[in-house]
Amino acid sequence: MATARFIEWKERYSVGNNELDGHHQSVISIINDMYTAIRDQTTQQELIGILHRLLEYTQFHFEREEQLMEEHQFTDLAKHKIVHDRMVQKTKELLKQALHDEIDVSKETMSFLKDWWIDHIIVMDSRYKPYMEGKKGLEQH
Ligand SMILES: [Fe+2]
Repeated sequence: MATARFIEWKERYSVGNNELDGHHQSVISIINDMYTAIRDQTTQQELIGILHRLLEYTQFHFEREEQLMEEHQFTDLAKHKIVHDRMVQKTKELLKQALHDEIDVSKETMSFLKDWWIDHIIVMDSRYKPYMEGKKGLEQH
């Protein structure tokens, strides 16, 4: 029997853009790797590696998402960017704490990551969906 994954991407998480859906699936997959590593009582070194991967991917994804929001003339970009920046800071903090052995990445950290990402996708990211789908935003020529 296959073990259930910590987070499962669902069709209702779709933001109307295949590239960004793919990114979100990759983020979820990194968080799932972290969950499995913790469950299997991995080394701190491996956790640091995964957090590092998460931070780099988060930065790459936010940058591309912001670029696409801009291209599709999404009107609430400034606010969205602030929320992204805060999450980058938060992820950097987690990495820093892990590097200094100040946290063992715990259940709480895992719940925080899961809740933040799912909430962000279904609440904030879904606001740009009509723009990605061409129902809003792009000037008519
Ligand atoms: Fe976002």
